[in-house]
Amino acid sequence: MQSIVEVKNLYISFNEKKVLKGVSFSLEQGECLGLIGGSGEGKSTLLRSIIGLEHPSSGKILFEGENVTNLSEEEYISIRKKVSYVFQGGALFDSMTVYENLAFSLREHTDYSERKIREIVLYELKEFELEGCEDMYPVELSGGMQKRVGIARATISKPKVILYDEPTSGLDPYKKRNMQNTIMKLQKRGTTSMMVTHDMSTALRICDRIALLTGGKIKAIDTPKNFKESHNVLLNNFVKGIKQGENHESA
Ligand SMILES: Nc1ncnc2c1ncn2[C@@H]1O[C@H](COP(=O)(O)OP(=O)(O)OP(=O)(O)O)[C@@H](O)[C@H]1O
Ligand SMILES: [Mg+2]
Repeated sequence: MQSIVEVKNLYISFNEKKVLKGVSFSLEQGECLGLIGGSGEGKSTLLRSIIGLEHPSSGKILFEGENVTNLSEEEYISIRKKVSYVFQGGALFDSMTVYENLAFSLREHTDYSERKIREIVLYELKEFELEGCEDMYPVELSGGMQKRVGIARATISKPKVILYDEPTSGLDPYKKRNMQNTIMKLQKRGTTSMMVTHDMSTALRICDRIALLTGGKIKAIDTPKNFKESHNVLLNNFVKGIKQGENHESA
């Protein structure tokens, strides 16, 4: 079967600094692929490049077999209807209520009537355990609730692919578990996803495969079980790296 996203020998630099140096991998239909790696290795850059927020100097990105590398801004609009990006902090519109934040996404991506939009928004709020929050503003919500609104907004228009950047960072263990459950629920709806995370327990619990980005390349990509068994040294070095830079995790 055709991969939903295929990245081939991707290079991305910022000024003189080479960040991605020949990244290749594929994201398969329906899977949840975790992306781990140390701070500054280029995980967010890689995720952002898939929807055209970063531009590679060489290499290719295919979406459902079609070359989508370095398209025009206009052409990326159609890709962004199919691929949602969940920003690390949720990136909610602070001046809009929760309802308006979610409705915005549907107004952008569909031509539904306001009545239908209301129906869908209220349904999704219930699904994400945010019932009764529709008139609240983002500042009035807890960090975990803001993250859930961010995910609800990114997924309400039913994208084929969801890209998550650190969906569990800064959450306490209980909220982390809830977030993992939310993501697993979306997987069951048939969404394909890719997730940057520093959190090995999340990666091991919910990802079908895990990719390790280091030195500008994907050094290993495998199932959680094989990862633990066959890439132990890589994994231990990575976990050690996280422990040394633990303060970073609260970002
Ligand atoms: N717009 C930019 N301009 C210049 N340098 C950038 C830009 N975006 C990222 N970089 C640099 O590229 C490198 C990779 O950044 P990126 O944000 O992708 O890392 P990351 O793996 O997501 O790190 P973290 O785990 O800290 O989020 C870093 O050295 C960063 O400083
Ligand atoms: Mg990042």
